[in-house]
Amino acid sequence: MIRSVVLGSGAAKPRTVVTNAELATKIDTSDEWIQQRTGIKQRYIAEPDETTASLGEAAARAALADAGITVDDIDMILLATSTPDNTFPATAVNIQDRLGMKHGAAFDLQAVCSGFVFAITTADNYIKAGRAKRILVIGAETFSRILDWEDRTTCVLFGDGAGAVILEAQEGVGLSNDRGILTSHLRSDGSHRDKLYVDGGPSSTQTVGHLRMQGREVFKHAVAMITDVIEAAFEETGLTAEDIDWFIPHQANRRIIDASAKKLNIASEKVVLTVDQHGNTSAASIPLAIDVAVSDGRLKEGDLVLLEAMGGGFTWGAVLVRW
Ligand code: UT7
Repeated sequence: MIRSVVLGSGAAKPRTVVTNAELATKIDTSDEWIQQRTGIKQRYIAEPDETTASLGEAAARAALADAGITVDDIDMILLATSTPDNTFPATAVNIQDRLGMKHGAAFDLQAVCSGFVFAITTADNYIKAGRAKRILVIGAETFSRILDWEDRTTCVLFGDGAGAVILEAQEGVGLSNDRGILTSHLRSDGSHRDKLYVDGGPSSTQTVGHLRMQGREVFKHAVAMITDVIEAAFEETGLTAEDIDWFIPHQANRRIIDASAKKLNIASEKVVLTVDQHGNTSAASIPLAIDVAVSDGRLKEGDLVLLEAMGGGFTWGAVLVRW
């Protein structure tokens, strides 16, 4: 059977780091509160010349170099973002143009913090259906542009950045020791859409709007939703928490990550944690964390990796992939 194998990965961060202490000079917060409630120590914030497209392009170039291929070898670009440069066209076509790619198709996909998991699953299905050979999957965000910097309950939580992976169609035998994506499970429930949303949009207010979140409500649902899709992924493959080499969750809050890992019996040394350095970068958080684990030598070919995310919508999902 066809498997979507990760051929390479890369990431890009804005130039500027903003620490909790720096935020505390501008709004009524403290390093202690932010670290204790979220685990965040700092985040990267885009300068005016840095956009979702420029960060996405840089991450894409890094992933192409890591894979040892060029855009000529790519059939499709899929960009997960909730902070596009323009309402339309898709930021993915901007990245396509920046990369000098004239063939194939590029489009955006929007599932907020679950965006990367939704995008990698969509790419996997194009590959498995035989409609694409190599797909560049990017998660890129500039959430700093939709934050209400007067609202301390949200503005301290998010950051900007981008990450990318390249998936390639390769033959597998259909067993769980195959390389590539072994299974993925996506879910959404729109009845929760008022708990994490942006209060603007072209069709409603004709403005871009700002992020609004009922943090405690999101927190309340997060662990149960995350563990639900992960258990479905385990059940389908016969794999267990013991088999996992690396758990790379969406990086929203250290408390949610720790509680999920504990409930699933995933040992803490298998958890890749980057929320302290990046804050919550929405669809970029998983590929940014992948880049950290690959760069520091933890994540190696053959490792079994569990990706998971939950966010606005609500949307949530899990992917099991053998690197
Ligand atoms: O990426 C997708 C999903 N997003 C998430 O997963 C976020 C989920 N939610 C969370 O991570 C947490 O709910 C937060 C980190 C957002 C908040 O933590 P919490 O423990 O739920 O705090 P809280 O909202 O219950 O607020 C506790 C107190 C409040 O004061 P009072 O009413 O108890 O006097 C807030 O006003 O903390 C206060 N507070 C702050 N204090 C200092 C809220 N924000 C801040 C702040 N600095 N930045």
